Amino acid sequence: MDLFSDIEEPEREELRALRKELEEANYKYYVLNQPTLSDRDFDEKMHRLQELEAQYPDMFDPKSPTQHVGSDLEKPHPASPQGEEKGRKAFETVKHKYPMLSLANSYSREEIEDWVRKLPAGVEIVCELKYDGLSISLWYENGKLVRALTRGDGQQGDDVIDNIKTIPSIPRYVVGTPSNFEMRGEVLLPWERFEALNKEREEQEEPLFANPRNAASGTLKLQDPKEVARRGLEAYLYYMLGEDLPGTTHYERLNTAREWGFHISDAIKVCKNVDEVMAYIAYWDTERKNLPVATDGIVLKVNNLAQQQELGYTAKTPRWAIAYKFPAEKQLTLLREITYQVGRTGVVTPVANLEPVQLSGTIVQRATLHNEDFIRSLDIRPGDRVWVEKGGEIIPKITGRENPTPTLPSREGEGFAFPTVCPECGAKLVRVEGEAAWRCPNEAGCPPQQKGKIEHFVSRKAMNIDGLGEETIDLLFRKGLLNDIADIYSLRAEDLAVQERLGDKSAQNMLAGIEASKQVPWARVLFALGIRMVGETTAKKIAKRYTSIDSLRQATTEQLCAIDDVGPQIAENIVEYFSDSRNIDILNRLQQAGLRFKGEADEGPQSDKLAGMSIVISGTFSHHSRDEYKTMIEQNGGKNVGSVSKKTSFILVGDNMGPEKRKKAEELGVKMISEDEFLEMINEN
Ligand code: IVH
Repeated sequence: MDLFSDIEEPEREELRALRKELEEANYKYYVLNQPTLSDRDFDEKMHRLQELEAQYPDMFDPKSPTQHVGSDLEKPHPASPQGEEKGRKAFETVKHKYPMLSLANSYSREEIEDWVRKLPAGVEIVCELKYDGLSISLWYENGKLVRALTRGDGQQGDDVIDNIKTIPSIPRYVVGTPSNFEMRGEVLLPWERFEALNKEREEQEEPLFANPRNAASGTLKLQDPKEVARRGLEAYLYYMLGEDLPGTTHYERLNTAREWGFHISDAIKVCKNVDEVMAYIAYWDTERKNLPVATDGIVLKVNNLAQQQELGYTAKTPRWAIAYKFPAEKQLTLLREITYQVGRTGVVTPVANLEPVQLSGTIVQRATLHNEDFIRSLDIRPGDRVWVEKGGEIIPKITGRENPTPTLPSREGEGFAFPTVCPECGAKLVRVEGEAAWRCPNEAGCPPQQKGKIEHFVSRKAMNIDGLGEETIDLLFRKGLLNDIADIYSLRAEDLAVQERLGDKSAQNMLAGIEASKQVPWARVLFALGIRMVGETTAKKIAKRYTSIDSLRQATTEQLCAIDDVGPQIAENIVEYFSDSRNIDILNRLQQAGLRFKGEADEGPQSDKLAGMSIVISGTFSHHSRDEYKTMIEQNGGKNVGSVSKKTSFILVGDNMGPEKRKKAEELGVKMISEDEFLEMINEN
């Protein structure tokens, strides 16, 4: 046995563990948009893994996270209980013409200086801002934007062209360019848009996006381009690729791209020596805080394209570029108290009340502590001095307590105990097995839950009742006029007119809004009821299958589980909802008020021209968007499926059909139909 194996073994184990941890972190960051490691922790672990791999070359593995970039590819949806939808994907995955690489990065200015000094003498460096969004590859053919791929796994990406077309600064057509070329850049959600979106989500009690990058990434993968357009994405382009392109330097190419109409940052600078580079970094370290979008560093690129080629690439990154990442800002402050907030769904969230502290230009005095496990894992309690951090995460985070073990006299006794009763109504809290949250079960009698249910009911995506905002609900609740959602329909002008702060005009508006809500379609009424875990999309799917509340009331958990998107937990919540007599009373009162508890005839298919057909959509189209074609298929009784099989009735083929799909279709002899033929078929032409 090898003499050194005892010493080596723990390091080999560490190497394996790091590979696993980084692989998981990549998945959570790129696919789920829920980062679990800070960028800095991720990078440090990656460096350590690189070090270990260099030390143990026999453990080389082409699948290691050091050898490939993290993947944002959308995984196919799991099979529905009927098994028909297996493999359905919202976006087509297409191979990149040129692989999309990552950048080597460093948090140390010394390392950056070193990198510059090691370049051959006289090399020019282009300094750019490192935009903190997600990369996109835009393909232009004969001047027309034909594909927009996410980075994916670096080799292939998801085609999100319909969503990209909602970004006004991205040209759909360009003139005077070579016939084929690619532009790469970053898709971002500007700060202002990000804050508005999170405010809206807070009102709806939807989970907040941790930072604009997550918000942009979640938005780009939505299947509703109208919603994408509403959120207002932006893009900056920073790289042009292709054959026979003009210019011999990167800088020239970016200027040309600007002339062609692309949105190129004004912050780009050619630097001739290390001092100029360091001055650029120092300037933007503070100035970036005034930009409308998030940046997390500076990118340095060798300007001359021939020199770039000489320097070449590693498996994952170009050797001709490097990123300097700005460190996250953090501060120590006193944790004064932990308070507990009860949300609309009864979840009790611990909140840290801090001694106010200045961080990245704002004063921080509160931060979420998420749940009991989070507090225990950091071992923090009132009286501790804790680290508050704000990096890419715009929402301040508590990352730990001052080390070593604190001895402050103010630190509370040893054990930490999460409350056992609801701070709002005194009910005994429950913790569902497998969930991190403690919850107040007193749905009908706990004030924040009662008010929350009403706020949700009137919200824009639910009953959309104008004039009945959070403040008015609170006022009417306190006066005893509004205890549940059905009380809304008993409100009278006289009740409202006597309320302080509620003028005549607002009272009239509110009553008009209440009256109008009686026309809201059944699917939205179902969503508005606020059954736990029944979100907007799930409600739509349920309402399609159960076209009246009476039929839904009879449904068993097994029957409900047969609906796409409905799992056992949701099914159980629905059955439980209907078994509570208080809910039945509310439903009866709502029904009496005249709400729509039945689907309209036009909610189903409008013709059966495509009845029983399974149709695959592939490529890009000129008359309608992909989503519009999906709707047309459904409205004519057909079904849109994602992958080609022998059951596929035909493929609706646009420009640039994915080569894999074409191959499979040809192998199986599946019919391919053009856009015009399809429109003819359903008589739209
Ligand atoms: S150049 C081959 N320039 O940073 C070089 N990337 O960490 C390709 N990024 O995947 C990248 N701003 O999404 C480049 N000015 C900039 C950038 C930039 C942001 C992103 C990009 C890349 C990631 C690497």
